[in-house]
Amino acid sequence: MSKERTLSIIKPDATRRNLTGKINALLEEAGLRIVAQKRIRLTPEQAKAFYIVHKDRPFYHELVSFMVSGPVVVQVLEGENAVAKNRDVMGATDPAKAEPHTIRAQFAENIEANSVHGSDSLENAAGEIRFFFSEAEIVP
Ligand code: CMP
Repeated sequence: MSKERTLSIIKPDATRRNLTGKINALLEEAGLRIVAQKRIRLTPEQAKAFYIVHKDRPFYHELVSFMVSGPVVVQVLEGENAVAKNRDVMGATDPAKAEPHTIRAQFAENIEANSVHGSDSLENAAGEIRFFFSEAEIVP
């Protein structure tokens, strides 16, 4: 076991429904510590750059439009095995396939408006954290 950091985003479908606190409670109950957090409105340039790995997927342009459609809350989560732990508490990308106790099963509207994003590897987590936060903004 090792202490890790991962990037989490509470997406526009969830901020619109005022679910930030409920989602944060699930993250904290899972043993993750929110060591940085800010509510921002992504620009189209930021959303395109953040999801650049999906640029050739059919859902890329819709995903970018969705991510700029309202505020998001970007967060750094810290804890033992934080990357895997966050993915467990988020549940599968498609809420129809997510385990019942997970954030996406409880709150996601559909496979796109799926309430949260979480880094998929430790390597990607480091890059995604740097995308939004300076080291000085992260307060363990
Ligand atoms: P996220 O974990 O942020 O990573 C990529 C996002 O693309 C995903 O969550 C969804 O919001 C969105 N998305 C939309 N359609 C699909 C799809 N068919 N498969 C995977 N991701 C999708």
